Amino acid sequence: MNIIEVKDYAEMSQKAAEYIIEKVCKSPTLNMGLATGGTPIGTYENLIADFKKNSTSYRDVTTFNLDEYVGLSGDNENSYRYFMDDHFFNHIDIKKDNTNVPCGDGNDLEEECSRYEQLIAKHGGIDLQVLGIGSNGHIGFNEPGTSFNTKTHVIDLAPSTIKANARFFNRVEDVPTKAITMGIATIMKSKEILLLVSGASKKEAMSKLLTENVSESFPASVLKNHPCVTIIADKAAVSGLKIHS
Ligand code: F6R
Repeated sequence: MNIIEVKDYAEMSQKAAEYIIEKVCKSPTLNMGLATGGTPIGTYENLIADFKKNSTSYRDVTTFNLDEYVGLSGDNENSYRYFMDDHFFNHIDIKKDNTNVPCGDGNDLEEECSRYEQLIAKHGGIDLQVLGIGSNGHIGFNEPGTSFNTKTHVIDLAPSTIKANARFFNRVEDVPTKAITMGIATIMKSKEILLLVSGASKKEAMSKLLTENVSESFPASVLKNHPCVTIIADKAAVSGLKIHS
C-alpha cells in the first residue's frame, strides 16, 4: 500500500482529484468505482471545478457506486443515487446512463445484487475504485465479519454505522438499517484502489489497518492483499502512527 500523508481535508481532496483527473485523461473510457459519505465530497468539488476550468471530459467514463440504502428510491434526498447526482454527476458531462448505483427500492433485492455484479463484469470490471473507510473498518458497507468472498449483497448496517450516518438524516430512526453493497471480492477485483481517509475519527481505523493482520473482523485489512492500493490520508487520521516501515 502506497500511503500519501497530506496536511488536511482540503489537501486530501485536491490530491485525490488530481489523481483521478490523470487517470481519466489517460483512459477516457475508465470504469470508476465511487463512494459517497462525507470523505469524497471535497474530491467531487475539485473534479467539478477542474471540469469547469479545464473541460476534463467524463463523456465516455462509466461509474459504479459502492452501495445504496435499502428502501430509498433515487429521488429520495438521502439515497446515494441522489447524493451522486447532486454532488457530482449533475455538474459534469457524464452520460447519466453510464452512471450506476444499485437500486435499493426494488421488489427483488437478490436479483438486483446479481444484476449489479454482472453489470460490472460485463463492463470488464472496475479500473479505479475510490473508497472511504468506516471507523469500524468497513469498506463499501461490508461490516466487520463479512466474508472476503462476498459479491454484491444485502447487508445489515452495524449500529455504529447507523449512528455515524445519522448526521445526514433528520433523526437516527430514519436511517435505513439495510443496504446493498458491492462485496469484498467485488472491490478486490478492481485493478486499482484509492482509499481516502480524513479526520481524527478515522485514526483508530488507520492504526488497525497499519498494524493488524488481515482478518474478516476488520474488513479494510483485506486491502493489504491487493497489489495496487494508494491511500491519501490527512494528518488528523495518521498523526503519531508509523506509516512507513
Ligand atoms: C460510502 C461507503 C462507506 C463510506 C464510509 C465512510 O459509499 O461505502 O464505506 O466510505 O462509511 O464514510 P464517511 O466518508 O462519511 O466518513
